[in-house]
Amino acid sequence: MSAPSVATTRAELADLLAPARRAGRRIGFVPTMGALHEGHASLVREARAQVGEGQVVVSIFVNPLQFGAGEDLDRYPRTLEADLKVCEREGVDVVFAPAPDEVYPGWPAEREPQVTLDPGPLATVLEGRTRPGHFRGVLTVVAKLFGLVRPDVAVFGQKDYQQLALIRRMVADLCLGVEIVGAQTQREPDGLALSSRNQFLEPEQRQQAVALSRALRAAQAAAAYGVGAALEAARTQLRDAPGIDLDYLEVTTVDLDELPDDDLPDGYPARILVAARVGSTRLIDNLELVIGTSADPNEQGTS
Ligand code: PAF
Repeated sequence: MSAPSVATTRAELADLLAPARRAGRRIGFVPTMGALHEGHASLVREARAQVGEGQVVVSIFVNPLQFGAGEDLDRYPRTLEADLKVCEREGVDVVFAPAPDEVYPGWPAEREPQVTLDPGPLATVLEGRTRPGHFRGVLTVVAKLFGLVRPDVAVFGQKDYQQLALIRRMVADLCLGVEIVGAQTQREPDGLALSSRNQFLEPEQRQQAVALSRALRAAQAAAAYGVGAALEAARTQLRDAPGIDLDYLEVTTVDLDELPDDDLPDGYPARILVAARVGSTRLIDNLELVIGTSADPNEQGTS
């Protein structure tokens, strides 16, 4: 594999992509904040599968606008050399690795762009409740990156399920004309979802963190007996788990709406989402659920 071409300015990026645009070749895009791991590599492979002979572009940009005060912007890992090796190994054509003032002209004196994207009500639940302003930052940078790269298709991980849902919504509501592909979460053999933040975990915390995926899997297994059984199975795992400071554990529709009050039909598709701090590291994860209507063997009958 040859090394990807690296652009650090908008002009360089435009020059690098011009031949592909002129030739009408498809552009596949994977936006990242770097610290690339196997999860990102799988997104790149999905982008390649989508565009074939076209161009695969990866952006590496730690977006200051999506970090709140007291969050981990300063300690977020920045590992460009290693990231470029991953991109080379995965056959990425172009890496866009701009400095903050290339994306936000005037940064840091003008702390924020004047025009940003309002993500709407979907950003007020789950992650958005704990991290106000986060999704405004995410959507603003993704819209800017879409404007610069002008991809045909962009690939995002399902690990950030709410982010994926909001990006789909933004593309639909603003008619951006980019196909959005959601790729499966990649996991360690013990189930822990791959995340750039896992490297912050001390060895003991790394062991403790697996409780999150274990809880989601327990919920998945119990979902045949209904939402209550699924939640209780997950809670049981988390209650007994040391080192887990739970933020939320929720079951929603696949679109992240509240579940309807009425009885759900057998096979109803839903999502379970969890967020917790392990030490000072905030981790999130989610899984699909298929809600069933079987009688729960753990519940006492009344007759
Ligand atoms: O998922 C991420 O890494 C970031 O939120 C994204 C989409 C690259 C925007 O900064």
